[in-house]
Amino acid sequence: MRIALIQNQPLFGAVESNLNRLLTLIESVDADLYVLPELCFSGYQFLSTDELRSLAVDPDGAVIGWFRQAACDRKASIAFGYPERAADGCYNAAMIVTSDGRDLRYRKTHLFYKEKEFFLPGDRGFNVIEWGGVRIGLAVCFDWYFPESFRTLALKGADIIAHCSNLVMPYCQQADFARALENRVYIATANRIGSEERDGEKLTFTGGSVLVSPRGEYLLNLPKDAEAAEVAVIDIALAREKKINRYNDIVADRRPEFYR
Ligand code: ACM
Repeated sequence: MRIALIQNQPLFGAVESNLNRLLTLIESVDADLYVLPELCFSGYQFLSTDELRSLAVDPDGAVIGWFRQAACDRKASIAFGYPERAADGCYNAAMIVTSDGRDLRYRKTHLFYKEKEFFLPGDRGFNVIEWGGVRIGLAVCFDWYFPESFRTLALKGADIIAHCSNLVMPYCQQADFARALENRVYIATANRIGSEERDGEKLTFTGGSVLVSPRGEYLLNLPKDAEAAEVAVIDIALAREKKINRYNDIVADRRPEFYR
């Protein structure tokens, strides 16, 4: 299976041109699964609930339909982050849309920094979708800081964790090494680049998207400060083999009775 990491530099609020740029990046490479950043077409720093609501989209609406069409056209699956408008408020959400018209929906569980002012915390937990013989789980950015997030996805059978990100701290790309090893999964962290200055506060995103194998190999390592789309081929069998020697199986050897 071919996985593409896409990293872009959205301009805050310029939804249409951000979507067009994402399509150009997607079309520049051939892959089976494309992983895009968090909030990939809206921008990151919202200044009010009203502003967030004006840029948030309905998961069954036209903008998400655009991703569905792209997945169908490319006979691929696409994982991406977006601001979701719901009856009770807005969520920092992510979705995987598949070539056969299905989807997996996720709402960011662990909100970061000022996201807490405007977004509701995710209420769906961590889940996995099976597509093309692989099991893909979803997580969003700061979820990585809580080892339970990726562990839960691994225990639910994920082979690959699609991790849509807008990272501002420098640690995740290195931490993915441990998260991939300890769960024996592929981790695809797609991270945006560039800076965003809103209301006097400037955030700089760290780019450097990575794809890490269950053996801790960095299969992709994108630039820190340029938009990019890169592809690597992965072997799902590696993620299905939880034995690391004759004696140790990293799932069967867990001792949950001592983890509380
Ligand atoms: C983050 O969760 N966007 C850092």
